[in-house]
Amino acid sequence: MAALQSVVVETTPFDDQKPGTSGLRKKVKVFMEKNYTENFIQCILDALGDKVKGATLVVGGDGRYFSKPAINTIIRIASANEVSKLIIGHLGIYSTPAVSAIIRQQKVLGGIVLTASHNPGGIRHDFGIKYNIENGGPAPDYITDRIYDLTRKIKQYKITPALETDRIIDVLGTSKFNVEGRDFTVEIIDSTKNYVNLMKEIFDFNKLRALIRGTESTPPFNILLDSMNGVTGVYVRAIFVDELGASPDNNVCRIVPLDNFGEIHPDPNLTYAKDLVDKLQADNNYDFGAAFDGDGDRNMILGKNAFFVTPSDSLAVLANNLECIPYFKKHGIHGFARSMPTAAAVDRVAAKLGKEIFEVPTGWKYFGNLMDAGRLSLCGEESFGTGSDHIREKDGIWAVLAWLSVIEHKRMSVEEILKEHWKIYGRNYFTRYDYEECETQPANEMMKQLEGLIASGTLVGKSYSAGNKTYKVEKADNFSYVDPIDNSVAKNQGIRILFEDGSRLIYRLSGTGSSGATVRVYIECYEKENVLSDAQVMLKPLVDIGLQISQLKKFTGREEPTVIT
Ligand code: G1P
Ligand code: ZN
Repeated sequence: MAALQSVVVETTPFDDQKPGTSGLRKKVKVFMEKNYTENFIQCILDALGDKVKGATLVVGGDGRYFSKPAINTIIRIASANEVSKLIIGHLGIYSTPAVSAIIRQQKVLGGIVLTASHNPGGIRHDFGIKYNIENGGPAPDYITDRIYDLTRKIKQYKITPALETDRIIDVLGTSKFNVEGRDFTVEIIDSTKNYVNLMKEIFDFNKLRALIRGTESTPPFNILLDSMNGVTGVYVRAIFVDELGASPDNNVCRIVPLDNFGEIHPDPNLTYAKDLVDKLQADNNYDFGAAFDGDGDRNMILGKNAFFVTPSDSLAVLANNLECIPYFKKHGIHGFARSMPTAAAVDRVAAKLGKEIFEVPTGWKYFGNLMDAGRLSLCGEESFGTGSDHIREKDGIWAVLAWLSVIEHKRMSVEEILKEHWKIYGRNYFTRYDYEECETQPANEMMKQLEGLIASGTLVGKSYSAGNKTYKVEKADNFSYVDPIDNSVAKNQGIRILFEDGSRLIYRLSGTGSSGATVRVYIECYEKENVLSDAQVMLKPLVDIGLQISQLKKFTGREEPTVIT
């Protein structure tokens, strides 16, 4: 085999390659700019230092538009930077949770995940690149900060231009290359096998099959899973259809991954997954519905007639019932955690069960250390993320299997389970208002104004009234987090206005958008007895107060949110 030569290419920095809440996300056309993707990949590898030499990395993503050229670039740049092996999902496809699983199972240095998650895909929309470390989780801040520093200084990247990548990801198997006398291997592997095996170890597939197919004494539990044309399609087929006997015609939909997600917004919430909501409302033969996002880490759970389970409640219900899942019987249940804006329903379960509970900043990367330290078993975010320490990413398919396990165990409907839960614990009503793609400057000014209010100290002790409710501010701050394991500090993680009765208003700017600013307002109140009211009605007074304090309409010019979850 003749040795392939690597070359050094001169380049200049881009000033906008700062990774956000979950990697670098930009419009496809930005990643297409000359050297844009090359620079970022080189900086990821440089940030890893000497460890990269001789290392194995996993590569894969949600298959969105621009994945193939990005993978080809990664292959050529990795080979020139002395990486010894890349493990790549067949056709470039790998859900984010499955990447996390394979990094852990193969004990490799890390992985490069090509996804912009729930952001729309296709030539006019978004692409994304993120790095996951050897525990399988998103790179922590100190690594993403290092990557960002490097992107602002980069002068050259190394690449092997003659390495033939055309169609390499289309065929399963191993290709070996000689790059300047070194061996370089590319292995294309089945994207589902390892993940399916992991799920089989965690859950009781026999029980789940009996639930879905029905038995002589129980009718089939009729599910409808919507992959929203994202990457979970291949996992839904492998697990629910092939293993658990779900019907490919009636129990699943949109399970062929498309590189533009069929021009939809692949985000499982009541707005963007309305299709599924409509189907469940139209056909009351369905007992359960679930949708996933583009890269498979998010989930939305619905019961009969599209009874909606908030992600915060979903987390609390799972926390309360984990012992019916074999994995937790074996490994035990350590602590629970939620991101700061997530409603505190799980805190009540933790208190009752005597478990530790952690409140971390927004973003899955903040859960990793706690899991590695054996202090966290189950966690979630209000943004439709739920997961456990089986991997270091949130996991949509896992969440659905967990819910079905609880249903199988309790023999109750989704709605009955929630009502029982609220009866025991009371209910944390929660809603989130998103104002997407606002102008950046006024959105920043709104946040500054809120900062100012907090600094002035005038909020605390003040009462606000709207509708028939009055709320008195007990505390107001900008959330800071000290990681209990490595003592790293994350500051400015969201404005919090905490009221005396436990109600909360939280304001953040999104860190995952690719253009403009998205303002998120999180609204929560707790009711011990009054647990069966409509959430939007219950929260309306607090919403009004939230809009008043922030002067959101004045700053953003928006009368209504673009999305309410
Ligand atoms: C959003 C969610 C956050 C989640 C992230 C990645 O980030 O709010 O909980 O971890 O997507 O899925 P944001 O856009 O708010 O920064
Ligand atoms: Zn995602």
